[in-house]
Amino acid sequence: MVKKRVAVLVSGRGSNLGALLAAAQAPDYPAEIALVLSNRPDAGGLAKAREAGVAAVAVDSRPFKGDRLAFEAEMQKVLDAHGIEIIALAGFMRVLTEGFVTAWNGRMINIHPSLLPCFPGLDTHQRAIDAGVRFHGCTVHLVTPGVDEGPIIAQAAVPVLADDTEEALAARVLAQEHQIYPAALAWLAAGRIRVEGARTVVEGATGPEGVLRNPC
Ligand code: GRF
Repeated sequence: MVKKRVAVLVSGRGSNLGALLAAAQAPDYPAEIALVLSNRPDAGGLAKAREAGVAAVAVDSRPFKGDRLAFEAEMQKVLDAHGIEIIALAGFMRVLTEGFVTAWNGRMINIHPSLLPCFPGLDTHQRAIDAGVRFHGCTVHLVTPGVDEGPIIAQAAVPVLADDTEEALAARVLAQEHQIYPAALAWLAAGRIRVEGARTVVEGATGPEGVLRNPC
């Protein structure tokens, strides 16, 4: 099997990166994590990559002083040098330009800590608690120019409990992020995702059984 060469882009601790690295150990996983790229030289994700023996490169965004085109051109050089075919954003905290996103159309995915289209943007867990929703969760989606807007590939829902804190809810969601992100990347790498307008279809995937209620 020829594995797709994936770059994971991180700005922080990289727990989702850790889940992707672990999944990619399986001989039949259709993707290889060939590069970890960060806009922050001090990102924990870079150290995690080095520990795993994966190429880890920082393209520090600060010297570019808001010149996003120049910053992205530098990133693109690194991606090209490593023969990258798919980008997985995993806590990458820079908004990408339309040009960069379009160049990677259908080949770039993101994980977001809410059930999109609810709660795009930041502070999703506190906003879910404040809104009083009974379910919250995470979403993997294809990246399009609108932030947190691309066609959804997978979601996982968790209950919001009456006494939840932001931290408790975040931890419950994060555990599910670590499940759905490796699965979604595998589907993309294996060519199982078909885009139909604003939706995607995952070839050969089955839906869950039953319903969820909260409270019971
Ligand atoms: C995750 O909550 C992810 O959904 C969001 O950024 C966070 C990254 O966490 N996009 P980690 O660095 O993967 O631990």
